[in-house]
Amino acid sequence: MGFWKKLLNNSAAATAPQDNIFEGDMIITKRETAPETRICFSTQRELDLYELEELCDRVGWARRPLRKVRKALQHSFLVVSMWEVRGKSKRLIGFARATSDHAFNATIWDVVVDPEYQSKGLGKALMKYLIKKLRGEDISNITLFADPGVIDFYRRLGFMLDPEGIKGMFWYPD
Ligand SMILES: CC(C)(COP(=O)(O)OP(=O)(O)OC[C@H]1O[C@@H](n2cnc3c(N)ncnc32)[C@H](O)[C@@H]1OP(=O)(O)O)[C@@H](O)C(=O)NCCC(=O)NCCS
Repeated sequence: MGFWKKLLNNSAAATAPQDNIFEGDMIITKRETAPETRICFSTQRELDLYELEELCDRVGWARRPLRKVRKALQHSFLVVSMWEVRGKSKRLIGFARATSDHAFNATIWDVVVDPEYQSKGLGKALMKYLIKKLRGEDISNITLFADPGVIDFYRRLGFMLDPEGIKGMFWYPD
Protein backbone atom coordinates (compact mmCIF):
# COMPACT_ATOMS: atom_id res chain seq x y z
CA MET A 1 0.00 0.00 0.00
CA GLY A 2 1.33 3.48 -0.86
CA PHE A 3 2.49 5.92 1.78
CA TRP A 4 -0.35 8.34 1.28
CA LYS A 5 -2.97 5.63 1.10
CA LYS A 6 -1.67 4.23 4.37
CA LEU A 7 -1.67 7.62 6.06
CA LEU A 8 -5.18 8.31 4.85
CA ASN A 9 -6.32 4.95 6.19
CA ASN A 10 -4.89 5.33 9.70
CA SER A 11 -7.20 6.12 12.59
CA ALA A 12 -6.10 9.75 13.07
CA ALA A 13 -6.74 10.37 9.41
CA ALA A 14 -10.15 8.80 9.64
CA THR A 15 -11.35 11.45 12.11
CA ALA A 16 -9.31 14.43 10.96
CA PRO A 17 -9.34 15.64 7.39
CA GLN A 18 -5.82 16.02 6.11
CA ASP A 19 -4.01 17.35 3.16
CA ASN A 20 -0.79 15.68 2.03
CA ILE A 21 1.62 17.62 -0.09
CA PHE A 22 4.84 16.51 -1.69
CA GLU A 23 7.05 19.54 -2.07
CA GLY A 24 10.35 18.70 -3.70
CA ASP A 25 12.57 17.74 -0.80
CA MET A 26 9.74 17.51 1.64
CA ILE A 27 6.68 15.43 2.38
CA ILE A 28 4.10 17.28 4.46
CA THR A 29 1.22 15.73 6.34
CA LYS A 30 -1.31 18.25 7.62
CA ARG A 31 -3.95 17.33 10.14
CA GLU A 32 -6.45 19.69 11.67
CA THR A 33 -6.05 18.23 15.15
CA ALA A 34 -2.30 17.66 15.27
CA PRO A 35 0.74 19.83 14.61
CA GLU A 36 1.89 19.69 11.03
CA THR A 37 4.22 16.74 10.44
CA ARG A 38 6.82 17.06 7.76
CA ILE A 39 9.22 14.49 6.41
CA CYS A 40 12.32 16.38 5.30
CA PHE A 41 15.57 15.38 3.64
CA SER A 42 18.92 16.92 4.42
CA THR A 43 22.39 16.60 2.91
CA GLN A 44 24.14 18.08 5.95
CA ARG A 45 26.88 15.67 6.91
CA GLU A 46 27.26 17.00 10.46
CA LEU A 47 24.93 14.57 12.17
CA ASP A 48 24.58 13.59 15.79
CA LEU A 49 26.44 10.28 15.56
CA TYR A 50 24.70 8.92 18.65
CA GLU A 51 21.32 9.53 17.01
CA LEU A 52 22.58 7.79 13.86
CA GLU A 53 23.88 4.91 15.96
CA GLU A 54 20.47 4.57 17.64
CA LEU A 55 18.80 4.42 14.23
CA CYS A 56 21.20 1.68 13.10
CA ASP A 57 20.66 -0.14 16.42
CA ARG A 58 16.92 -0.19 15.76
CA VAL A 59 17.41 -2.28 12.60
CA GLY A 60 19.89 -4.57 14.37
CA TRP A 61 23.08 -3.46 12.64
CA ALA A 62 26.36 -4.18 14.38
CA ARG A 63 27.89 -1.20 16.15
CA ARG A 64 30.83 0.53 14.49
CA PRO A 65 33.47 2.74 16.13
CA LEU A 66 32.08 6.29 16.06
CA ARG A 67 35.42 7.79 15.00
CA LYS A 68 35.28 5.60 11.89
CA VAL A 69 31.64 6.47 11.22
CA ARG A 70 32.55 10.17 11.51
CA LYS A 71 35.41 9.70 9.04
CA ALA A 72 33.18 7.75 6.65
CA LEU A 73 30.61 10.56 6.67
CA GLN A 74 33.26 13.23 6.20
CA HIS A 75 34.65 11.39 3.18
CA SER A 76 31.35 10.39 1.61
CA PHE A 77 30.36 12.12 -1.59
CA LEU A 78 26.77 12.50 -0.45
CA VAL A 79 25.09 12.02 2.92
CA VAL A 80 21.30 12.05 3.07
CA SER A 81 19.32 12.03 6.27
CA MET A 82 15.54 11.86 6.55
CA TRP A 83 13.74 13.61 9.39
CA GLU A 84 10.29 13.72 10.86
CA VAL A 85 9.70 17.32 11.89
CA ARG A 86 6.80 18.08 14.18
CA GLY A 87 6.56 21.65 15.37
CA LYS A 88 9.99 22.38 16.86
CA SER A 89 11.05 18.78 17.36
CA LYS A 90 12.78 16.63 14.79
CA ARG A 91 13.65 12.98 14.72
CA LEU A 92 16.12 11.13 12.52
CA ILE A 93 14.11 8.41 10.77
CA GLY A 94 16.25 7.50 7.77
CA PHE A 95 19.74 7.64 6.40
CA ALA A 96 21.80 6.74 3.33
CA ARG A 97 25.13 7.82 1.90
CA ALA A 98 27.16 7.43 -1.25
CA THR A 99 30.84 7.36 -2.05
CA SER A 100 32.03 8.42 -5.50
CA ASP A 101 34.89 9.17 -7.88
CA HIS A 102 33.01 12.47 -8.54
CA ALA A 103 32.82 11.72 -12.27
CA PHE A 104 31.40 8.37 -13.32
CA ASN A 105 30.62 6.13 -10.37
CA ALA A 106 28.87 6.24 -7.05
CA THR A 107 28.18 3.46 -4.58
CA ILE A 108 25.36 3.66 -2.07
CA TRP A 109 25.88 2.54 1.54
CA ASP A 110 24.02 2.33 4.84
CA VAL A 111 20.43 2.66 3.61
CA VAL A 112 18.17 2.55 6.63
CA VAL A 113 14.65 3.56 7.67
CA ASP A 114 13.49 3.44 11.30
CA PRO A 115 11.31 0.30 11.70
CA GLU A 116 8.45 2.48 13.01
CA TYR A 117 8.43 4.31 9.70
CA GLN A 118 9.03 1.39 7.34
CA SER A 119 6.52 0.17 4.73
CA LYS A 120 5.18 3.69 4.17
CA GLY A 121 7.10 4.48 1.00
CA LEU A 122 9.79 6.43 2.85
CA GLY A 123 12.70 4.12 1.93
CA LYS A 124 11.74 4.58 -1.69
CA ALA A 125 11.48 8.37 -1.25
CA LEU A 126 14.91 8.43 0.44
CA MET A 127 16.49 6.41 -2.38
CA LYS A 128 14.84 8.50 -5.07
CA TYR A 129 16.12 11.66 -3.40
CA LEU A 130 19.65 10.22 -3.24
CA ILE A 131 19.57 9.07 -6.86
CA LYS A 132 18.22 12.46 -7.99
CA LYS A 133 21.11 14.19 -6.21
CA LEU A 134 23.67 11.82 -7.79
CA ARG A 135 22.17 12.29 -11.25
CA GLY A 136 22.30 16.06 -10.59
CA GLU A 137 26.08 15.63 -10.25
CA ASP A 138 26.14 13.81 -13.62
CA ILE A 139 26.97 10.46 -12.01
CA SER A 140 25.64 7.77 -14.33
CA ASN A 141 26.85 4.51 -12.79
CA ILE A 142 25.20 3.93 -9.41
CA THR A 143 25.91 0.68 -7.59
CA LEU A 144 25.16 -0.83 -4.20
CA PHE A 145 25.49 -4.05 -2.24
CA ALA A 146 22.10 -5.47 -1.30
CA ASP A 147 21.42 -7.83 1.57
CA PRO A 148 19.50 -10.84 0.17
CA GLY A 149 16.31 -9.74 1.96
CA VAL A 150 16.16 -6.34 0.27
CA ILE A 151 17.00 -7.20 -3.34
CA ASP A 152 13.42 -6.65 -4.44
CA PHE A 153 13.29 -3.27 -2.68
CA TYR A 154 16.19 -2.11 -4.87
CA ARG A 155 14.85 -3.90 -7.95
CA ARG A 156 11.66 -1.86 -7.70
CA LEU A 157 13.84 1.25 -7.86
CA GLY A 158 15.44 0.09 -11.11
CA PHE A 159 18.59 -1.60 -9.79
CA MET A 160 19.64 -4.72 -11.68
CA LEU A 161 21.18 -7.80 -10.16
CA ASP A 162 24.46 -8.86 -11.85
CA PRO A 163 23.88 -6.92 -15.10
CA GLU A 164 25.48 -8.76 -18.02
CA GLY A 165 26.70 -11.39 -15.54
CA ILE A 166 28.93 -8.93 -13.66
CA LYS A 167 29.57 -10.19 -10.11
CA GLY A 168 30.52 -8.20 -7.05
CA MET A 169 33.75 -9.50 -5.49
CA PHE A 170 35.05 -8.94 -2.01
CA TRP A 171 38.42 -9.25 -0.35
CA TYR A 172 38.62 -9.57 3.43
CA PRO A 173 41.73 -9.67 5.60
CA ASP A 174 42.48 -13.17 7.01
C1 LIG B 1 15.09 -1.72 3.21
C2 LIG B 1 14.39 -0.50 3.80
C3 LIG B 1 15.31 0.72 3.67
C4 LIG B 1 13.07 -0.24 3.04
O1 LIG B 1 12.47 0.91 3.56
P1 LIG B 1 10.88 1.07 3.60
O2 LIG B 1 10.59 2.46 3.99
O3 LIG B 1 10.28 0.00 4.44
O4 LIG B 1 10.50 0.78 2.08
P2 LIG B 1 9.27 1.39 1.27
O5 LIG B 1 8.06 1.39 2.14
O6 LIG B 1 9.67 2.69 0.67
O7 LIG B 1 9.11 0.31 0.13
C5 LIG B 1 9.17 0.65 -1.25
C6 LIG B 1 8.79 -0.59 -2.03
O8 LIG B 1 9.73 -1.65 -1.77
C7 LIG B 1 9.07 -2.77 -1.21
N1 LIG B 1 9.93 -3.30 -0.16
C8 LIG B 1 10.31 -2.71 0.97
N2 LIG B 1 11.15 -3.51 1.68
C9 LIG B 1 11.26 -4.63 0.95
C10 LIG B 1 11.99 -5.83 1.13
N3 LIG B 1 12.74 -6.04 2.22
N4 LIG B 1 11.90 -6.77 0.16
C11 LIG B 1 11.16 -6.59 -0.94
N5 LIG B 1 10.44 -5.46 -1.18
C12 LIG B 1 10.50 -4.50 -0.24
C13 LIG B 1 7.75 -2.25 -0.66
O9 LIG B 1 6.78 -3.26 -0.65
C14 LIG B 1 7.42 -1.15 -1.65
O10 LIG B 1 6.87 -1.70 -2.82
P3 LIG B 1 5.85 -0.85 -3.77
O11 LIG B 1 6.62 0.35 -4.26
O12 LIG B 1 5.49 -1.80 -4.83
O13 LIG B 1 4.72 -0.46 -2.86
C15 LIG B 1 14.01 -0.73 5.29
O14 LIG B 1 13.22 -1.91 5.37
C16 LIG B 1 15.20 -0.88 6.22
O15 LIG B 1 15.73 0.11 6.72
N6 LIG B 1 15.61 -2.12 6.49
C17 LIG B 1 16.69 -2.40 7.44
C18 LIG B 1 18.03 -1.95 6.94
C19 LIG B 1 18.40 -2.61 5.63
O16 LIG B 1 18.24 -3.82 5.46
N7 LIG B 1 18.92 -1.79 4.70
C20 LIG B 1 19.37 -2.24 3.40
C21 LIG B 1 20.78 -2.75 3.49
S1 LIG B 1 21.35 -3.35 1.92
